[in-house]
This record gives sequence, structure tokens and C-alpha cells, in this order.
Amino acid sequence: MNSDSLSLTLPDDWHLHLRDDEALHTTVPHSARCFGRAITMPNLKSPVTSVDAALDYRDRILSYVPQANRFQPLMTLYLTDSLSPQEIDKARETDCVVAVKYYPAGATTNSDNGVTEISRIYPVIERMIEHDMPLLVHGEVTDHCIDIFDRERQFIQTILQPLIRHYPTLKLVLEHITTSHAVDFVQQQPANIAATITAHHLLYNRNDLLAGGIRPHFYCLPLLKRSSHQQALIEAAISGNPSFFLGTDSAPHGRASKETDCGCAGIYSAPAAIELYAEVFDSHAALEKLEAFASFYGADFYGLPHNQSSITLLRKDWHMPSEYRLAGDVVVPIRAGDTIAWQLESNS
Ligand code: DOR
Ligand code: ZN
Repeated sequence: MNSDSLSLTLPDDWHLHLRDDEALHTTVPHSARCFGRAITMPNLKSPVTSVDAALDYRDRILSYVPQANRFQPLMTLYLTDSLSPQEIDKARETDCVVAVKYYPAGATTNSDNGVTEISRIYPVIERMIEHDMPLLVHGEVTDHCIDIFDRERQFIQTILQPLIRHYPTLKLVLEHITTSHAVDFVQQQPANIAATITAHHLLYNRNDLLAGGIRPHFYCLPLLKRSSHQQALIEAAISGNPSFFLGTDSAPHGRASKETDCGCAGIYSAPAAIELYAEVFDSHAALEKLEAFASFYGADFYGLPHNQSSITLLRKDWHMPSEYRLAGDVVVPIRAGDTIAWQLESNS
């Protein structure tokens, strides 16, 4: 590896929002350019709560994959109080519906149909354990009396720790972690508990969201936290611990629904996803740790093979456009109008 060029086994994105229909025209090529597979989130306006709906959604996504790419969406089921264990059996019979997503009801975008009380879904969890299927968790409590900056820590203490005590063999991913508490928690668990880390939580902290003015395009959930938490996430990502791997949580919303009185949560990072992770690892002199974080640990956790092809990144500035078209609106990407320090040269 010379320091201005970096070749990696084709990475995967273990947490992605592609949205649906016309939006796929924008989102799918952005992710397909640098990822081989992506765990595709099921929180569509009409959530993906059945295997049949997941397979239909997968077909719609595949119809937007550019010819030059071999992108494979890996589908997830949206866990509701009424999801049946039989649906887990049905998912297992496919090789492309690979996990179940748990949103506490009301925690984030399109989560109103989420789980109201965790014990209601124990029969589904027991069937998932039988099939070794991972539960993907949005780890924030929703109680209004809990400060929004404390909701991840509270979730770990009051929901997650009891859950894994009850089901110690459950395979579980704590998604888009944002705090040192989550890092400590995952480090203390055996290999069946993992976490994804986004590029935006590695690059930014709550000052970027709030200091000098409110910046709605930095508003995501879980919220950006103080810089000491950001540092803990960086150390986890570059540590070489296989329980931490890449998940962008790239989540596009139209400009109008971000720049408004009550804006939506989500940061659109897909157009520069792997490049932004390269910036973080580079600025911490850890570029040699990027490949395992981006291309191996997630696949190993899910029991999937590593990708065969590779990508090359160059240390070369480019400018992120100020917006992209998104289904009759525009989406403002991360770093809009600003410089990105690494560039994707090839995907072969
Ligand atoms: O910022 C976020 N956006 N966090 C989530 O949990 C959901 C996502 C979305 O779907 O927009
Ligand atoms: Zn997400």
C-alpha cells in the first residue's frame, strides 16, 4: 500500500436506508458504486413486515442496480408486536432475508409500528435463536422523561442487558452506536454481540449540529454526542476488534422535510461513504485497519463469505455536489459543496 492509494476487498454496508420506488434511482447507484452488499432497512412508509414484502422490495432495488455493479441487497423484516415465529422460518428458507430489525415504537423515522413491549416478541426471538438469525437493534428508549442524549445508555441498561441475560446466545447488532457506554458494553460481550458504526458519528459531534446555529442536515438518530463519545467510537472502529464494523445508516430525506419546523432525522452519506471512513482511519494513522472493519468483520458476523472483487481509493480531493435529485425533491448530502479527501478510483 502506498500512502496515496488504498486497495480494499469490496466493502459491505451493514446498515442502509435505500427508501423505495423513484428514490431508488438515486440511492441504489450511490451505494452500489462502493459496496458489494447492504443490509437494507425495512422502515418504509409501509414497513416491510413479511417475507413476501421483503422479496418484492428486493426486486425493486435490484432493478436499479447499474449494469457495472454486482450489488446485493440483504433484506430485513420489521419487527412488530404481531410478527409470527412462522415468518422467521419462512425468512430462513430464503437466502436473502437475513435479519430482523427492532425499533422501539416511536424511536425514529417510520417506527410507529415498532415494538411496544419487548416481552411480546419473545416467541419470535426464540425462533431467531434456533435459526441463528441476528436481531438488529435501534438502541434508544423512547420515554419523554429521559433526556435525548441519554437514551442509548438507558436502553442498554434497561432493555438490552436484561434481554441478553435472558437470551445469552441471541445474535444481536446494536446499530449505529453513539456513546462510550455502547462501546464499553459491546467490548464486554461475547462474539454474538456486535455493533455498527456510521461515518458521521466518527466524523462529527454535537457541536457540528448545534454550535453557531442549528444544522438540520446533521440531525440524525441517535443524535451526535459530545466529542469524548466520538473519540470512543473512533478508538473502537480502529481497534481491530471484530465486534465493530461498518454500517453507514445513510438515510436520505428530501430537503423540504429536513429544513422545516420539525425536521426528519437522517444523514445522506452514501455518495461518499467509503471515502469518509477512509478519511477517519487516515487521520488516525490506521488505514491498514480499514479493510477488516469495512470488508471482513461484518461478513464474518453474518456468516457470509468475503467479497471477491476489490476497490481502489486515491488520496485526492473532490467536491461533493450541493444536492442530488431525490424522487421529485432534492437531498442534501453530507459535506454538501465541500471537499472529500479520498476518491473512489475503481470497483473491479
Ligand atoms: O437518522 C436516522 N434516520 N436514524 C434512524 O434511525 C432512521 C433513519 C431514517 O430512516 O431516516
Ligand atoms: Zn438506520
